[in-house]
Amino acid sequence: MDCTIDYIKSWLKEHLNEERYEHSLGTADCAKMLAEKYGVDSEKAYFTGLIHDCAKCLDWEETEKILHYIQLEEGEFENPKTHHAPVGAFLAAKEFGVEDSEVLSAIRWHTIGKLEMSLFEKIIFLADKIETRTRPVEYREPITKLLDEENGLDKALLLCYANTIKSLVDRKLTICTATIDIYNELLRKTSLYYAR
Ligand SMILES: [Fe+2]
Ligand SMILES: [Fe+2]
Repeated sequence: MDCTIDYIKSWLKEHLNEERYEHSLGTADCAKMLAEKYGVDSEKAYFTGLIHDCAKCLDWEETEKILHYIQLEEGEFENPKTHHAPVGAFLAAKEFGVEDSEVLSAIRWHTIGKLEMSLFEKIIFLADKIETRTRPVEYREPITKLLDEENGLDKALLLCYANTIKSLVDRKLTICTATIDIYNELLRKTSLYYAR
């Protein structure tokens, strides 16, 4: 990665609103902490957490231009809130010269996730949801608590998906097929550890 953390922070400060900038710092810190806990590259996790929302505040025209180069998942197009993830991966490569496929993939999938996520992808996905700077304590604490249990990372992800699905149902919004598939996958992976 050619860009320094200082350069990236100043770029983000210029291109994100204040809350999103805070959230990016929080995600970076949380990703680093999770990476240390699970034994993956914590510097890379910090960097990825920091830039994961780099496209969040792009204007619609700019986002649409970049979307022409990207293949979206079924159901993804009709949910514009998810577009900053694939657009962010594109931007990370173009703007910050990121070539690491694991970093780009973690950014690409940080909104809807995907089946068979790698440990690194799971860490970035989760850090985005439970960082302590902007995520409300009543949302993040039940998820964070699960991390101390056996198979805790998958259990924490399962709760994130359950929350997301409930919220989409409550708001009468469409649910990507992938979201349901990932929920089912996590449920199967963690079911051994739940009392029935
Ligand atoms: Fe995001
Ligand atoms: Fe985020």
